Amino acid sequence: MKFFIDTANLDQIREANDMGILDGVTTNPSLMAKEGIKGHDAIMKHYVDICEIVDGDISAEVVSTDFEGIIEEGKKLAALHKNIIVKVPMIKEGVKAIKWFTDNGIKTNCTLVFSAGQAILAAKAGAKYVSPFIGRIDDSGWDGVQLIEQIAHIYNVQGFKTEVLAASIRSANHIIRCAEVGADVCTCPLEPILALLKHPLTDIGLAKFLEDAKKFQ
Ligand code: G3P
Repeated sequence: MKFFIDTANLDQIREANDMGILDGVTTNPSLMAKEGIKGHDAIMKHYVDICEIVDGDISAEVVSTDFEGIIEEGKKLAALHKNIIVKVPMIKEGVKAIKWFTDNGIKTNCTLVFSAGQAILAAKAGAKYVSPFIGRIDDSGWDGVQLIEQIAHIYNVQGFKTEVLAASIRSANHIIRCAEVGADVCTCPLEPILALLKHPLTDIGLAKFLEDAKKFQ
């Protein structure tokens, strides 16, 4: 399973990248706004800055909702860097745009996916990634990980090449469960990634080893 970090915060991207386990970055307009990145030029520069930190797929989201607008924005984003993946919302115009991008050699991430039916459409259109938002599904009283399992199963049975990118991850347990059910990628904030490191017996064991090591110094 690939690890992407879901943030536009350059310090957090660097920290995850320095661990050597990062395969890419996902962003969205809310994450860009959270970092105070405003205006077309600043946003474009920020994507390039991210591409210079991480050598992997970097999702940059369009904000148009009509076919022509999505295509125009997507072409500009894709031209920024070879690693840019154009993130397109799961709407009718978005599906049409994903097919156009696929036919024209531009890779896409279909976002805001909440059902298996939407995931089938994204795969049919040729999206490189499909992003089901598992935390938001859990928030609504459904089971986000179950949806990841269902989509992974359908893609496997049908031979779709689209990768299942589990998004809206809120905890270390989400990451573990997504790995169990066959997600190809998980994208999450830095905190759940760091939470994977933690176990009290590791801390206790290390303290004892270091204490015993002093006896031989
Ligand atoms: O990748 C999608 C993600 O940014 C949404 O996360 O926590 O806002 O549901 P969240």
